[in-house]
Amino acid sequence: MAPVATPAPLEDYTDLVAAISEANAAKKGNYYAGHAVPPPNAIKRYLAAGIDLTQGYPAFPELPADVEAATAFENQGREGHAYVDPAGRADPEKKALFAAAREVNNLTKHIGTEIVGLQLKDLTNQQRDELALLVAERGVVFFRDQDLPPQAQVDLGLHLGDGQIKTDSVLPHVPGLDRLGIIWDTSRPGPNSRSFRLPWPGIPAHGWHIDTAADPITNGYTHLFQDTVPSDSGDTLWSSGYAAYDKLSPGLKKWVDGLTGIYRSTITFKNPERPDGPPIPILERAPVVRTHPVTKWKTLFVTRQLVGLEGFDKKESDHFLKYLVDVVENTVDIQVRWHWTPNASAIWDNRVVAHTVSRDFDGERHGTRVQSYSDRPFFDPESKSRGEALGLPGWNVPAFDTEAHLRAGFQL
Ligand SMILES: [Fe+2]
Repeated sequence: MAPVATPAPLEDYTDLVAAISEANAAKKGNYYAGHAVPPPNAIKRYLAAGIDLTQGYPAFPELPADVEAATAFENQGREGHAYVDPAGRADPEKKALFAAAREVNNLTKHIGTEIVGLQLKDLTNQQRDELALLVAERGVVFFRDQDLPPQAQVDLGLHLGDGQIKTDSVLPHVPGLDRLGIIWDTSRPGPNSRSFRLPWPGIPAHGWHIDTAADPITNGYTHLFQDTVPSDSGDTLWSSGYAAYDKLSPGLKKWVDGLTGIYRSTITFKNPERPDGPPIPILERAPVVRTHPVTKWKTLFVTRQLVGLEGFDKKESDHFLKYLVDVVENTVDIQVRWHWTPNASAIWDNRVVAHTVSRDFDGERHGTRVQSYSDRPFFDPESKSRGEALGLPGWNVPAFDTEAHLRAGFQL
């Protein structure tokens, strides 16, 4: 295991902590009530970058007035932008990236690669393009022991997002850097937020999810850097949409190709039609099988945020989606589990993987996330599955032959 950095104690920042606490107290009543002093390793990183924390921590955006405002916010600046995926420029062999690394280790057969001996802040544009391609192919790529200034994380995200990074309409961000979101449970306290028995109380779309699945243009490359993590908990898991698609039989692949899904946001907003009624999610249509624009592989764009199939009755839709969700959530050989250490990074292609945190932690877990924009989801009927395109052994097998099975004397 990588060495664990020892963070400076909060006592090193006594005056600053007092200033943050005072500023936070003045913000009482914020909708999340999630202001607190960040952990020492985060303070150290922010101070080295000259970030002013004396106005309180974290910074929250203005909450959208209703679901229409939230939808407009999620779409801002996106219409008419023709995204150029940096992976499309990359050397397929990724020589510049791999030659600079000390080690490149695939963590499982089908998803997840760790790169050892590289600092993300030092990558050339050529290496960044090659990293994008590696992420697009492997789903998620990991780095430990990063010296990553906040602005360097934003800069990398801008490169991967062809100049565009999503700002969040609800979640907190680093003061002065609204493109640098904060993943920190302390900032979203709830009455059951520390429950091990009910890790996602009342929120069925949490757990396994795809970030911004209900946006018309979903996020692509997504980079989470964790400065502070518990030593024994709080892992993140990713599930490969490419391999989930390849898990389907030839018959089911044909059936699911070209279906349109209805996706919901995990967060709900005021309904402008019924302001006093229950809040409603953002809803968006997208292909259930997406084609990645660079790898050209099909991926199963499925989590519980996919709440309906267009053209199907709810009972039918619920039945079929339950199976697809089960493949994504419960097939361990298409998943990777990452144990964080302080100052580690994970960069995933949010178009081709689902992810979830393992909600077994009760200590501080604090990081910053950049969500680079990508392309509008599309399905190309000419595209192939990953197993088919690469001719991978073990994937391109015929459907189970029930008749032959029984004639050979095997039991069902
Ligand atoms: Fe997420």
